[in-house]
Parts: sequence; structure tokens; C-alpha cells
Amino acid sequence: MPSFTHLLCAGLAASLVAAAPTPSRVSDAVKRSSSTCTFTSASKASESKADCSTIILSGIEVPAGETLDLTDLTEGTEVIFSGTTTFGYEEWDGPLIEISGKKITVTAEDDAVINGDGSRWWDGEGTNGGKTKPKFFYAHSLDESTISGLTIKNTPVQVFSIESDYLTIKDVTIDNSDGDDEGGHNTDGFDIGESTYITITGAVVKNQDDCVAINSGENIYFSGGTCSGGHGLSIGSVGGRSDNTVKNVTFTSSTVSDSENGIRIKTVYDATGSVTDVTFSDITLSGITDYGVVIEQDYENGSPTGDPSNGITIKDVTIDGITGTVESDAVEVYILCGDDSCSDWTWKDVDLTGGKTSSKCENVPSGASC
Ligand SMILES: *[C@@H]1O[C@H](CO)[C@@H](O)[C@H](O)[C@H]1NC(C)=O
Repeated sequence: MPSFTHLLCAGLAASLVAAAPTPSRVSDAVKRSSSTCTFTSASKASESKADCSTIILSGIEVPAGETLDLTDLTEGTEVIFSGTTTFGYEEWDGPLIEISGKKITVTAEDDAVINGDGSRWWDGEGTNGGKTKPKFFYAHSLDESTISGLTIKNTPVQVFSIESDYLTIKDVTIDNSDGDDEGGHNTDGFDIGESTYITITGAVVKNQDDCVAINSGENIYFSGGTCSGGHGLSIGSVGGRSDNTVKNVTFTSSTVSDSENGIRIKTVYDATGSVTDVTFSDITLSGITDYGVVIEQDYENGSPTGDPSNGITIKDVTIDGITGTVESDAVEVYILCGDDSCSDWTWKDVDLTGGKTSSKCENVPSGASC
């Protein structure tokens, strides 16, 4: 088996020998049931992924301009990161890692690190210009699956792009804090779109953009998060995409520190869509430089204009237990709604101190205060 000499595929080797006289279909079933494959090369992992029920990625150096491609894994495959995973340098769009399949389990050994070494790309411009920077981790069609225990360092730009159903992400640490001084930008932790039943618990995110940003999706739950250095917990911007519905989202029991915003909902001016059934509860803020709580309907070309529209409704919003401090030149609460587009809000225990009161709020729904 010359093509397998580079990998340790003990179960596969044994079962190939045992199953040699039987039809290949049977031997396929036998070999998958027990094959743990340890790969030290990204291309070999991609080539042979279908033969392994457990894939150990051991100290992989992904070549420049290539994706660690674990797409279309066989149902039930387990992927384990081991050692340090690194990536060669090239200006391209990425992603550097992509995993898809059903009932996939992605974990890491305790000391494993996935190190993007993003400073090679960082130029303070993120995705707005300068070098073309690869996206990091696509979890697209990674359904009924779990990612847990990953430690990720210094990604070039955005970290997780999530487009999946029933995906749980547990105890993942993203430490892009080197980017604070070295030009990290648009390093969003978790970007979620066109997804349902996404649960993220115990995330630690140190970055320079949204900790979480939900552009569309339903039944999304974020709990026990520790976000710092970035732009806070965000819904939006919603509008102008193929899916403009956000429904049943909870952010709870989390902290946001040293960030531009605490919690935020932003929608696009003159677009249509809906944001419904959203809860932010038990969120502690500190060191917020722009807004503690911000809900605004005036985004155009990625920036707020101060002029809201009402084509996207923001309904059934609960803001409960948002406490802590903002910086002295930050605004504690800012609400800029279109005419009648914000309704049925529950607002309690919003207790932020240290900053300014906004004089620019518009169409604040009853119950809320600005
Ligand atoms: C809302 O989302 C949560 C979290 O995914 C889920 O458990 C719950 O069933 C959803 N509620 C409704 C009414 O769909």
C-alpha cells in the first residue's frame, strides 16, 4: 500500500488485510468502523479523509494558498487537532480551514493551538483594503455537529463563518489580542448567517471586531461568553442580503470588556426584513468606548448615517440585566428606530454608569428608555 505509507492508519491496514477476499463494499464498512488516521500533511488528510472514522491532525503545516479541506466528511467522523497547526503565507481569500458533514465532532488535545500568525497579513485595513487576507474557518453545512475545546490564535481576518444547522460550539478560545497593537482589523469571532439552532457556550474572544455577529438565522443561543477588545455582541447588520430574517436569538450570562459596544442591533437603511424574539440578558460591560446598548436602523454601506428607516421591524426584544460601566465619552444607551418599526420591547435592569446620555434617540418604543 505505497499510498498509505505516510499515514498511520492501523485500523485500515488491518482490515484491508482481513477483508481482502470479500467484496469491496463490505471491506469499506469494516475498515471505517475502526480506522483512526493520524495525518501530518493537509493534502493527505484531504485525500484520505473518507477512509477514517477518527482523523487526528498532528502538527499540520498547511501550505500557502491552500485550505485544510475536511469538507464532506462521512457522517459521524471525529476530527482532533493535535500539536500546533500553522499556515503558509499568501494573499488570498481562504478559508484556511473548512469542515463540513453531519454529526461531526471537532475537538483538540489540551495543548493544541491553531495559529494563524495573522501579523503577516495585518495592516490595519482588514477586509477594507490593503493585503487580501484569508478567512479562517468555514463551518458551512457542518450540521448536527459539535466543535469544542479549540484554541485559536491570531487569525488574518474573520475567524468563524457559520452557515449550518444544529451546530454546537463549546469552550472555544480565540486570542487575536496581538492584533490590538499590530494592525488586526475585522477579526470577527463568530459570523453567523442562514443558520438554525446554533449554540455557542463558554467562548473566549479577544479581537478587534464583533465578538459575535448574526446577519440572519433562527434559534441561536450564546451563553457564558467572555468578549474583549472588539465591537461586542451584535445582531446585524441585517438587510440587503439573500436572507434578512433574524428570529429567536438569546445572548446571556456573558461579559464584554474594553470594546467599542456592549450589545447592538443594527439594520440597513431602506432594506426589508425582520428581527424578532431577541433576548440580551445578564450581560456585564466594562471599558466600553462607544455605546453600551445600541439599536439603530440607519446603516448604509457599512456605516451609520443618523437617518433611520422602517422597512426592517425589530420586535419582541428583551433587554434584561445589562450592567456595568462605559467610558466617560461613551453613550450608555442609543436607540434610533424608524417610524413604528420597533415594538413590543421589554426593558429591565439596564444599569450602566460612567458615560453620557444620548440626545439623539428617535422612535423609542414604549418600555425602553434612552
Ligand atoms: C429558540 O431557540 C432555542 C435555542 O436554539 C431553542 O432551544 C428553542 O426551542 C427556540 N424556541 C422556539 C420557540 O423555537
